[in-house]
Parts: sequence; structure tokens; C-alpha cells
Amino acid sequence: MATERTFSILKPDATKRNLTGAVNAVIEKAGLRIVGQRRIQMSRAQAEKFYEVHKERPFFGELVDFMISGPVVVQVLEGENAIARYREVMGATNPANADEGTIRKTFSESVGENTVHGSDSAENAKLEIAQFFQDSDIVG
Ligand code: CMP
Repeated sequence: MATERTFSILKPDATKRNLTGAVNAVIEKAGLRIVGQRRIQMSRAQAEKFYEVHKERPFFGELVDFMISGPVVVQVLEGENAIARYREVMGATNPANADEGTIRKTFSESVGENTVHGSDSAENAKLEIAQFFQDSDIVG
């Protein structure tokens, strides 16, 4: 096992419902350390770039509109196997399929408004962190 970093977003449905502290408590209880964190309003261009891989999907427009509908919290999480660990902690993309105790099972209302994003690979974690953080803003 290796110490890794992953990229996380607390999405607008989380900030809107004042759930950032509650979600962070789940993240920290799972052994992941929040080593970078910033609350931002994403621009349409940033959201379109971030989700570029999904641009041909029918839900792309809806996804971008949602991600810019309110503030988000972008984070860098660090820990043993952080990428896979955070995906476990988040639960399935569709909250209806998420396991008990996961963030999405506990807090999410739909597949679109599913509270959190986490990187799906080491390569994407690196790219996603670089889109939103400078090295000096990550303090491990
Ligand atoms: P995320 O992990 O941020 O990566 C892509 C996002 O697309 C995903 O979480 C969901 O929020 C969103 N998504 C996936 N499927 C759908 C769908 N059918 N309708 C709307 N949004 C979706």
C-alpha cells in the first residue's frame, strides 16, 4: 500500500444544504486527511474542462449547469490507497445503489446531485489536482 493523493469535490447540493462539515467528518473518520481545500464558484469553462471526458453523454449539459449552480469545495485528500479508499467512502455514483454508511447513501438525493466527486485513477487524480491547486496550496 502506498500513500496517495486524490482529488475531491463537495458539489453544490452539499454546500447548499450546509453539509460540508458533515461530509468532511465522514472523510476524516475514514482515515483520509484533507491536505488542500478551497471553496470556489466554478466557471462554466472550468466545469466543461473538468468533465470533458463526458461531453458526448446526454447528461453533460445538465451536469455542467449543476456544477456551476452554486459554490463547490475542491479538496486534495491524502492517505493509504486514497483513490480507491475515497471511492469506497463515496459509494456508488447512483445513491440508490450505494452501500449503507457511504456519503452518497447518507446524503445524496439523485445520480445527478450526488454530493461528491472523487478521482477514478492515479492519472486523473494528478490532472484534476493540477486543474485546481498549486503545489504550495497543498500542505501534507
Ligand atoms: P462524478 O463522479 O462527478 O462524475 C461524472 C458525473 O456525472 C457523476 O459523478 C454524476 O454526478 C453525473 N452523472 C452520471 N450519470 C448521470 C445521469 N444519468 N444524469 C445526470 N448526471 C449523471
